[in-house]
Amino acid sequence: EKLIRVPIIGSTNDFLKENWKLFPHGTVIVADVQTTGRGRFNRAWYSPEGGLWFSVLFKPRKNMRPNFYTKLSAVSIVRSLRPLKVEAKLKWPNDVYVDGKKLAGILTETIFEEDRLGAIIVGIGMNVNNEIPKELEKKATSLKLLVGEELERLSVLSMILREMNRALRVYSRKPEALTRVWKNMLIQKEGQLICVNVGGETLKGEIVQIDDESITLRIQDKTMRLSSLEIVDC
Ligand code: BTN
Repeated sequence: EKLIRVPIIGSTNDFLKENWKLFPHGTVIVADVQTTGRGRFNRAWYSPEGGLWFSVLFKPRKNMRPNFYTKLSAVSIVRSLRPLKVEAKLKWPNDVYVDGKKLAGILTETIFEEDRLGAIIVGIGMNVNNEIPKELEKKATSLKLLVGEELERLSVLSMILREMNRALRVYSRKPEALTRVWKNMLIQKEGQLICVNVGGETLKGEIVQIDDESITLRIQDKTMRLSSLEIVDC
């Protein structure tokens, strides 16, 4: 396992996307600052000093679904926060939330080569000591705000990596068990009423079923299975 530290970079995900062939499975790159950090839905991810911005390179031998690594990371982040007495949950599919505010996000990207899966890159961004901009105060939080003091970014990183290694050992042979653990950490539960954004349209419905790629909603008397959706406030 290799850890690369850089003071400044465009995006740690982009770095691994461009250089994945040069590095072994398990390589981690962490940056102090990202200048072109990216989030899901093509959004920019503000990555100033004080936050934890890193990516992990997986070169799976077995044909594991990329989602496996995303869930693995989300579950490991939640677990790594427990010793700090921070009770995090997941907003579907894998945003890490505490008290209704986002603490961390995950961006998983896959690389295909000649139709074969070449690599999976899991990028994690966590607000640790960085300031939360005023306009995000209601939506985002940081570990510093939650714990009441600054934390060593690299020790937070090593706690997360330790949980990821443990989870890899446990769940590689039983991915269904990981799905169960992940589902238990979700804020969204079956039976709950939620609003979702699908292709610019907002829909409101009752959750009939949740899995890692889709949510099935009951809207009036119709049942719709939706993927690539974002849960929004109603
Ligand atoms: C999201 O919630 O939309 C996902 C955010 C992922 C941000 C991390 S920071 C490290 C890695 N490099 C990036 O450019 N993005 C991810």
